[in-house]
Amino acid sequence: MMRAARSEPAESVPVWIMRQAGRFLPEYRAIREQVPFLKLCKTPDLTARIMLSAVERLNVNAAIIFSDILLLLEPLGLDLEFLPNDGPKINNPITKPDDVHRLRELESAEELPFVLDTVRYTREGLHPNLPLIGFTGAPFTLAAYAVEGGASKNFARVKAFMHTFPKEWQVLMKTLAISTARYLNGQIQAGCQIVQIFDSWVGCLSTEDYVTFVLPFSKMLIDLVLPGTPIIHFGPGNPMLLPHLRAAGGHVLGVDWRVSISQAWEMIGSGCAVQGNLDPTILLTNRDIIRQQVQSVLRQVERRPGFIFNLGHGILPQTPVENAIAFVEAVHEFGRHA
Ligand code: CP3
Repeated sequence: MMRAARSEPAESVPVWIMRQAGRFLPEYRAIREQVPFLKLCKTPDLTARIMLSAVERLNVNAAIIFSDILLLLEPLGLDLEFLPNDGPKINNPITKPDDVHRLRELESAEELPFVLDTVRYTREGLHPNLPLIGFTGAPFTLAAYAVEGGASKNFARVKAFMHTFPKEWQVLMKTLAISTARYLNGQIQAGCQIVQIFDSWVGCLSTEDYVTFVLPFSKMLIDLVLPGTPIIHFGPGNPMLLPHLRAAGGHVLGVDWRVSISQAWEMIGSGCAVQGNLDPTILLTNRDIIRQQVQSVLRQVERRPGFIFNLGHGILPQTPVENAIAFVEAVHEFGRHA
């Protein structure tokens, strides 16, 4: 995994699954019946245990800390809540230009001590050969939550805000870039070997808007991350953004299924590793189809150094556990280079 993240040749293709410890595992759902999600994220012995048991069950080549991109918004001054069946909600979203001035900058990752303990406890329990991935939301995706106040279909509020109030948008994005960098650096110092930046909603933007309103701040974040730790930069939804995501930075670019791996690599160019990109719905089919699809991706990779197998986005909650296991097994079987 570390060699692939650095685009160095490796003896096999590493694999992990975005949201690998989440709602598709019955062990997780059993814990969630006892503990609300936000409380769970703030209980490091539970978060560590959840991820370690998922890694063992799935036999993946990396762990990611069990946490959420939205936790960072609390110390910045936003009132975060996870509604039982409705996802996240911000009770005091940024609606007026002046609101950006009430957002604080994170001074240090110590303001989220439970995340640093999650890193430490997970690292302690993890096999020394497996890297631990830390993560943050990218400035745009966090701004989208802060302005929309929760999930959104067309991101109308955040896009209108960015065009109408470009000065305040810059203040907001700079606060988020600096805060996310300090947050990731705290995770690295606490024991993460790789970090991933989730720009989950960036695909709603045109390339022009990405370059004008977002790229400088994703770059600011990436440039502030402690050198020596590979960065996975994931921005699904709009493959036309790939060259611009690459320009913003990162050692690995996360790619979804809307573009083939071979096309993606052509758009990205050399010197950057790639992570992806099986459509998560393939894991709702059966073992034979999963194995065929894994082989089809690996044929496009052609043993090129710097490939990390993953899904193109998070695993779906209704995925049968045996299909997720079959996916990992197929990558291990067909991705051996010996
Ligand atoms: O393996 C893992 O599950 C790792 C932990 C992880 C979670 N969230 C746990 C979680 C990670 C890496 C995230 C990142 C995250 N959170 C993203 C980026 C990833 C992506 O898919 O693009 C986003 C957009 C969020 C925001 C968020 N958190 C949403 C929209 C929701 C509700 C919908 C959903 O996905 O469940 C959450 C809640 C959340 N985060 C859950 C989990 C396991 C479900 C909570 C529950 O038990 O009900």
